[in-house]
Amino acid sequence: MIDERLKTIADMVSKPGTLLDVGTDHGYLPIYLVQNKVVKNVIASDVSKGSLSKAVIQVELHKLETSIETRLGSGLEVIKEGDKIDTIVISGMGGNLISELIDKRLKHIRKNDIEIIVQPVQLPESIRKYFYENSFDILEEKLAKADGRIYHIIKAKARKAKIPIRNFSEGDVTLELGEFIMADKSNNNLMLLKELVYYKLKKQYKIKEKLEITDSNNIKDRYRVVLKKIESLNNVLEKID
Ligand SMILES: C[S@@+](CC[C@H](N)C(=O)[O-])C[C@H]1O[C@@H](n2cnc3c(N)ncnc32)[C@H](O)[C@@H]1O
Repeated sequence: MIDERLKTIADMVSKPGTLLDVGTDHGYLPIYLVQNKVVKNVIASDVSKGSLSKAVIQVELHKLETSIETRLGSGLEVIKEGDKIDTIVISGMGGNLISELIDKRLKHIRKNDIEIIVQPVQLPESIRKYFYENSFDILEEKLAKADGRIYHIIKAKARKAKIPIRNFSEGDVTLELGEFIMADKSNNNLMLLKELVYYKLKKQYKIKEKLEITDSNNIKDRYRVVLKKIESLNNVLEKID
């Protein structure tokens, strides 16, 4: 029932207690997690009544009402006092929206040692930037391919206090590719990383070509960053081959 993307998310869950799945939609992840005894309980939430009703039907069909509670609401607003959530999954949304949702309950997340697993559909760099700027340690990162697309899955945990973790220089592609992903030498990761880097290089060469025929003095900085990105991406490729 679950594809490679959701399976990779499930494999990254490390705490066996209660997991909150934000934007659960069909509820496939909670069902897999409970059926396979990865966690004891799941709170499956969604902002859309229509989406949540799909999850409700699936939970009833699988007779998992005692382990999976469904809640209607936006983001982490569904968390109630007394919930002992130790993992939050937010998958299938944009990187910007994911960081906005986390930011609204950041204090709660910092205080309660909650592990966050995110899978942005686009802009993984924006959620990584949010994590680094807000003193989250990135614990694990994986790539997964489903429906012909490569997805980033990132597990992170907030430090108790906000202290700067690291800065990035111009053209650094770490935010786009992920430091764990760049360091992972497994065959599956290297194959997906290579595909991703080629895709990104193609995009940067196109931007470079466009900038080269743009008649303006204001593009110098942009052009410099593009050249640096191309250099960084080629460096990543060299290490893969
Ligand atoms: C593409 S689906 C992803 C479903 C599932 N999480 C997955 O990864 O397969 C996105 C879901 O997020 C829900 N959603 C969007 N914004 C939300 C928010 N602010 N709070 C909770 N759910 C939200 C949508 O209603 C939709 O069901």
